[in-house]
Parts: sequence; structure tokens; C-alpha cells
Amino acid sequence: MTVHVLFENEDWMPPLRRALADRGLEWVEHFVDGGVIDLASLPEDAVYINRMSPSSHTRGHQAGVVYTRELLGWLEATGRRVVNGSRAFTLELSKVQQHASLEAFGIRTPRTIAVIGNADPREAARQLPAPFITKHNQGGKGLGVQLFEDHESFDAYVEAGRLEPSPDGVLLLQQYIRPVQPFITRVEIVDGRFLYAIRSSTEGGFELCPADACAIGDSMCPVGGEAEAQTNEGEARFQLRAEITAADPLVRQYVAFMATHRLDVAGIEFVEDADNTRWTYDINGTSNYNGGVEAEHGLDGMGAIADLCVRLLQTPAQQGLHRVAAR
Ligand SMILES: Nc1ncnc2c1ncn2[C@@H]1O[C@H](COP(=O)(O)OP(=O)(O)O)[C@@H](O)[C@H]1O
Ligand SMILES: [Mg+2]
Repeated sequence: MTVHVLFENEDWMPPLRRALADRGLEWVEHFVDGGVIDLASLPEDAVYINRMSPSSHTRGHQAGVVYTRELLGWLEATGRRVVNGSRAFTLELSKVQQHASLEAFGIRTPRTIAVIGNADPREAARQLPAPFITKHNQGGKGLGVQLFEDHESFDAYVEAGRLEPSPDGVLLLQQYIRPVQPFITRVEIVDGRFLYAIRSSTEGGFELCPADACAIGDSMCPVGGEAEAQTNEGEARFQLRAEITAADPLVRQYVAFMATHRLDVAGIEFVEDADNTRWTYDINGTSNYNGGVEAEHGLDGMGAIADLCVRLLQTPAQQGLHRVAAR
């Protein structure tokens, strides 16, 4: 039996290929920017890994997101094993859904207001104290993230037509959490197991995408260039946060949250304020891992994903109830 990898960003593939090859697995890669689904057929009995990026539209591949959403439903309806299936993908595509689900789970998120369609964002922003930020509901790479210190500057920004639309048309206005120290934390979890947490400097803007290749041509995600991989003080932008362990109460909540929402793989981000309150604001299902941090500390996120594939390949598939098959 094979592993099928659904992906859209070639840059993220080499570490996954290495991890699958190291375990002697066979896999087929599917670059997804659209496709055909014939509901009269059955998908191959295999393990499917969803590595579809919510920022696909920035590379001209938004149709891949639409295709993947439908494909995952079909795979699951036919009993196929999927790493990060439809529930995970729903969360991946919407911070509104993320925040609602996190809050329902007792995990604190920044106050967030979604603005859609003809609603006036300037008016909606009045419900939030300044400073606040804008961001895209369907994000990744810090898209649409802007900080506003007061409502007047936001009004001017909107009136100048500078507000960039999120690909799904959902604009978020969000309470700004001033980090007590200039970094955010990202917690990596795979298959119910805490791997590690890294800290990412917030100096020089809003960014966090720890993959080595993600940065190319994207100032919001500066991991690629040598110079940009450091902070002003010459520290590495991404560092292990070794004091965060599996026993941390927030990490335990994340692990439980992921089990409830059938998230097999995720990097979950939080920021700490001056009162040491930790605010969770982003869940990344297409987690990418920083090669420098992993090499320094002997960590292997993609290896954990490949191990999950091995486990799934050894688990019997559920019997899919499929009317076509029964005919
Ligand atoms: N509410 C917030 N308060 C303070 N900083 C934030 C907040 N939300 C996001 N940021 C900063 O902006 C970055 C990008 O925002 P995020 O929600 O992670 O979007 P994306 O899905 O595009 O990664 C974060 O890594 C963090 O540095
Ligand atoms: Mg993020």
C-alpha cells in the first residue's frame, strides 16, 4: 500500500521526501491546483497526507484548496485514511473556526471580529480597543497582518483602498497582544505527541513560518536569507524553547484539542503578554520545521509525520460505506 501526498508548494517537499524515503515507504506525489473527482469511482486504498497550503492563492493555486476540500470529504466517505482530513482542513482554512473551537475548549484567544461582504470594517473596528491588527481569515505567512495604533489610522487605510482582501472574503480585526518579550512560541504536535516548541522573534515585523524554503520572495516570512535568519542582536530568529514540555498545561490542552478535532499534525502558535497570559492565535496544519533548530537539537518533525504514515499503513482501514461499491 502506498502513501499519497497532496501538496501545492514544492518548496516544502524535500524534507518530507527524505523522511518517507528513510523509512523505506513508497509514495506518490500529487501537485494540486485543481482536478477531477469522479464520484462513480473509488479512491485507491492508501494513506493520504494532506499538505495543502491555505496560502495557495499567493502562488495562483486557490483552486487547489477548493479541490482538496472536496477530495478529503470523498476520501473519508469511502473510509480512506487521511492525515489531516476534512475537519483539520476546515480549521486550516478559517481562523474564525479555529478561534471559536479553541475558545469552546477553554483555550484563550485574542478577541476577534470577522467582517464580511458589505459590512463596514471601520464601524466594526470601533467594537475593539486600539491597538488592534487586521489579518486574513484564510492565511499563512502573515498575510494581511497590519498593526493599527488607533482607529483613525485604520479609517485612513480603508479609505485609501489599501485593505487587501482575504481569498475567502473574510477580514479579521483582532486584539493586539503586545508580547512581553519579542517572540512568539510555536508548539509542534504530531499524532498526539508533543515534539517541541520553538520561539520566533517578532522583531522587524509579523512573521512566522519556520520552514527553510518558505521565505523566498516573501518579506513576511524571512527564513530564507542568511541575513534575515537573525535578529538585530545577532541571535537566530528561530530557537528551541526547551522549557516548554509535554507537561505544560497549555501543551496538554493542545494535544486534547487536536484529538477532539482530528488534527494529526499541527504547529500551534501563542503569544505571552505582560501578565504572562498566553494567547493562542494560529493553528497550522501544514506544519513545516526549521532545519537549523532541528539539526542543532536532533529533532525531526517530518520524521514524526512519516512515522505516523507507517502506523496508519499498519492499521486496517475502516470499511467505507459507499453506495457505488454496493451497486
Ligand atoms: N493578536 C495578535 N497579537 C499580536 N501579534 C499577533 C497577533 N496575531 C498575529 N500576530 C503576529 O502576526 C504573525 C502572523 O499572524 P498569524 O495569525 O500567525 O497569521 P498566519 O496564519 O498568516 O501565520 C504572528 O506570528 C504574530 O507574530
Ligand atoms: Mg502564523
